Amino acid sequence: MSDTIIKVDGISKEYRIGGTKVAGGNLRESVVNFCREQAETLKSILSGAAPDSGTEKFWALDDVSFEVKEGEVVGIIGRNGAGKSTLLKILSRITEPTRGWALMNGRVGSLLEVGTGFHQALSGRENIFLSGAILGMARSEIKKKFDEIVDFAGIDKFIDTPVKRYSSGMQVRLGFAVAAHLEPEILIIDEVLAVGDVAFQRKCLGKMDEVSKSGRTVLFVSHNMPAVRSLCTRSILLEEGKLVYDGSSDTCIDKYMERNISMRRDGDLSFFRRDRITDATNAFMKNIRVTGGQRVDEHLPSFTSGEDVEIVMEYEVRRPVRGASLTLNLNKLEGDKVSVIYTGDKDLAVDMEPGTSEVKCRIKGLPLTPGLYQMNFGLNESGSKGRATDYLVGVPLFEISEVPETGGNFPHRPWGAVQWSDVEWVMPCDVEGR
Ligand SMILES: Nc1ncnc2c1ncn2[C@@H]1O[C@H](COP(=O)(O)OP(=O)(O)OP(=O)(O)O)[C@@H](O)[C@H]1O
Ligand SMILES: [Mg+2]
Repeated sequence: MSDTIIKVDGISKEYRIGGTKVAGGNLRESVVNFCREQAETLKSILSGAAPDSGTEKFWALDDVSFEVKEGEVVGIIGRNGAGKSTLLKILSRITEPTRGWALMNGRVGSLLEVGTGFHQALSGRENIFLSGAILGMARSEIKKKFDEIVDFAGIDKFIDTPVKRYSSGMQVRLGFAVAAHLEPEILIIDEVLAVGDVAFQRKCLGKMDEVSKSGRTVLFVSHNMPAVRSLCTRSILLEEGKLVYDGSSDTCIDKYMERNISMRRDGDLSFFRRDRITDATNAFMKNIRVTGGQRVDEHLPSFTSGEDVEIVMEYEVRRPVRGASLTLNLNKLEGDKVSVIYTGDKDLAVDMEPGTSEVKCRIKGLPLTPGLYQMNFGLNESGSKGRATDYLVGVPLFEISEVPETGGNFPHRPWGAVQWSDVEWVMPCDVEGR
């Protein structure tokens, strides 16, 4: 029977709604927020109300408890804003829980949001030694690992440059290399696969597999379901700060998908505001429909592979938009990227007048295999002054329900995401009479 290495007991974290995230905030924002808070406190004292009335709070984590045994590789999944990063930050001692406690029975190496954990003014080299020292490693031990880390991160030319001059991709690479190579007993990784190129992602997955096989304990937050499924035997599902499932990764991912589908079926775009980056003042997507000759099943558009579909995007525009581009990223619900459709590929520009505008995208013979798909939308107006931007992630959801009869006698087994229909075979010889 292996030993418990992590014990989390009733952890809760309360935040103020709209609280400034440290990573994204700048000095000006902090000063403005501070002054605003002071003014509000003063106003409420003068009016006789409690000082913090009016500043609404919410629980980003709500009474979360679980235990992890030594050597377990545990996935943590959940929608945007579910509380995954908050949990990892508490376990890495970056932030304190409001209630509850966590016992970490080993050295923790973590890769959290870009830049967390690095001292921006120090060079890559200095940060590697500092991280090792924090993990309680001797200088000679760190020296032994140094070349491997620099090599994995691929930043040898920049090793003596201050980290603040690194691109975010370089910071993530160094962060992952440090976290994975300095041999912590507990490795905590937040979304490393979201950043970096495919080759680096593959390298990270390989390294994590190696780390987990060496018997170390790993906590892995990701939206990439195939990666979670292949790396983690156990997963935890968080939903609005609560732990709603803890068990096998397969069941956990199924539950996550089921809940996602039932929540997205209502087609209410306001539901996705947490997944949205927008300036809202210039152009804002109000509605989105995917139509075709489909059977509508409780608002979940459903198509047959090879069918023509039309995506209708309705924008609310406040001022004329000129020369904007539209990007549609098509993904499988599990996270695999399928394709990008971009107006720029056809040298098209989106112009919209104030009011409501509709953009339609017609796709002939959508060549997808059965499954659930989702799209991300990006509207981006070029030009420097007050340009319109609106990015919307994970909407709409639609289903490819079946593949038409192929006529062959081979039982049809859809594979991957794309179903080609226009394929020609050239055979080595033409046997007469066939
Ligand atoms: N410093 C903060 N102040 C106020 N609210 C915060 C702060 N940090 C996070 N939050 C909020 O807490 C909730 C949980 O955030 P968290 O970053 O843990 O989510 P997540 O599951 O990691 O999401 P994602 O998948 O988008 O990374 C969100 O509503 C977020 O806006
Ligand atoms: Mg997060």
